[in-house]
Amino acid sequence: MALHIIDHPLIQHKISLMRDKNTGTKEFRELVSETATLICYEATRDLPLKEIELATPLGMARTKIVSGRKLAFVPILRAGLGMIDGVTTLVPAAKIGHIGLFRDPDSHQPVKYYAKMPEDISERDVIIVDPMLATGNSAVAAITEVKKLGVKNVKFMCIISSPQGVDAVLNAHPDVEIYCGVMDEGLNDDKYIVPGLGDAGDRIFGTK
Ligand code: URA
Repeated sequence: MALHIIDHPLIQHKISLMRDKNTGTKEFRELVSETATLICYEATRDLPLKEIELATPLGMARTKIVSGRKLAFVPILRAGLGMIDGVTTLVPAAKIGHIGLFRDPDSHQPVKYYAKMPEDISERDVIIVDPMLATGNSAVAAITEVKKLGVKNVKFMCIISSPQGVDAVLNAHPDVEIYCGVMDEGLNDDKYIVPGLGDAGDRIFGTK
């Protein structure tokens, strides 16, 4: 299945707190991070395991650890940065790439202004993170960018999606699995998700 809505009660609760316009910057930032951790738990469910043998205090055990596949997270700047603490809590050895895309206010098309990826990105599975999957234009552009670098396995993680955004990603990149906490009704004329939570970047960084 290409779209995974992770509707765990804790995720729904945290999203409700994030939606509240009275939630302040500090709490909002913490909620984004915590929700990212919870969604990442599901997005990494298919990590391959290998069996090892080790000594416990009481004897030998055959047990499993995550095997060699390497991961990179790629936040779409700037709001995606708010999810990085949360996802690296679960996968501390992951490398981080960055892609900067801003939305042209008139055309709503993404414009790339920055990209810096781990040197070995083509050998890694990549999870692109951005709290809001709105039109899908930035997500599609970011996925295209990492695929151009040779990445074979790309996932996309967000907190709130719109039906339009999900359609755009799955039409352009049907192989990509999307993980989100909730899908909202749609987009307003300014291409913000409604009811959504407003501008995620502004709320994470306190810029408005
Ligand atoms: N980006 C945001 O921060 N919020 C939206 O609703 C859409 C895009």
